[in-house]
Amino acid sequence: MSFPVKPPANVASLFTPLKLGPNVARNRIFMSPLTRNRSVPTNVPNDLNVEYYRQRAKSAGMIVTEGTLISQQGTEWPNAPGIWSKEHVDAWKKVTDAVHEEGGLIYIQLWHLGRSDHPDAPEQIASGQPVYGPSAIAARGGKFRHIPGQPGYVTPTEIDDPSTIIAQYKQAAQNAMEAGFDGAELHGANGYLPHQFLDSTSNHRTDAWGGSIPNRAKFTLEALRAIVDVWGKERVGLKLTPGGGYNDMGMPLDETKETFGYLVQEADKMGIGYIVLARYWELGDPMIDGKRRGTPHDVIEAYGPLIKNSQKFSNTQFTPEEAAKYISEGKLDAVLFGTAWIAHPDLAKRVQYGKPLDNQPDPKTFYGHSTDLEELRKGYTDYPEAKYD
Ligand code: PHB
Repeated sequence: MSFPVKPPANVASLFTPLKLGPNVARNRIFMSPLTRNRSVPTNVPNDLNVEYYRQRAKSAGMIVTEGTLISQQGTEWPNAPGIWSKEHVDAWKKVTDAVHEEGGLIYIQLWHLGRSDHPDAPEQIASGQPVYGPSAIAARGGKFRHIPGQPGYVTPTEIDDPSTIIAQYKQAAQNAMEAGFDGAELHGANGYLPHQFLDSTSNHRTDAWGGSIPNRAKFTLEALRAIVDVWGKERVGLKLTPGGGYNDMGMPLDETKETFGYLVQEADKMGIGYIVLARYWELGDPMIDGKRRGTPHDVIEAYGPLIKNSQKFSNTQFTPEEAAKYISEGKLDAVLFGTAWIAHPDLAKRVQYGKPLDNQPDPKTFYGHSTDLEELRKGYTDYPEAKYD
């Protein structure tokens, strides 16, 4: 659906269509990946998930799914969805069909948690695999909300041959194509597996996958290449959080800038469709030993100018007005919103019509804590739309 209504001047730039690979996004108010833990009873998207995405597809320029597991190995969440089986493909097809019926676009976010998982997590146990990391180095802190006693991170088993996991990304990308997505995003952010390879505090390998910056960036770039092999470069995105923090990630500022500067330039040279430079998120960077782990810096200013070919997106606590300003100044091409989409199924339409964003998001319902579908609707598909006359 496109809306004939002229948006307020201070958000007008959000409503210029944007070319996204072979498609055109109708606006630049995108929906960011959001873990909702509601693919009950296991890890397969259900009809409630279809309804949630359909509601938001009515106005979003583009949706990136919640982090979707490329293999059963690796999730803290008992009900995060996967894309490793035929059953997942068939279930996601219902989501992508619903989004397309509403005129929307949807990319899958391909996710592997690496060391940020726990051996007692139900899906991890079911996988029969250990918790893997680039090196046998535990993250500090951690809080696994679904595991009794809320234990912290564990020391992971060092991945012997990372190319076996790259092959899983490729298979997942193939499955995603069969499921009818418009493209695929590599989750390279927030302290998950690609980020663990990139950061010198979690990667102490001495082989071709560790050490120098090109070696530490190799995992992310090889995973991207595998996804590009399936999708073609222009339908592939990459999400990064150079400011670190979350899941015990972070390097000194100079090393951060050098490492991410290299990776951004290499990914951009590949000609992928977009790169998300997500901003530092203080709430996701808990104090450990009296200090935060992250390296807050202006990631749009630091890496945006290095991006010459890909579209530039950002994420994390933007207001629509702020997003519109970045876009009108040419610093970004689109902005992804998270919490605002949780509480406003009609977010982009509200912004276009100048309606207030006055639903209060309820953090208690961000993640599903039940297997009962009626219970799971709360804070998921029951936020009201604004009144439009
Ligand atoms: C989460 O499960 O809370 C989560 C997942 C993926 C992210 C960030 C947070 O990138």
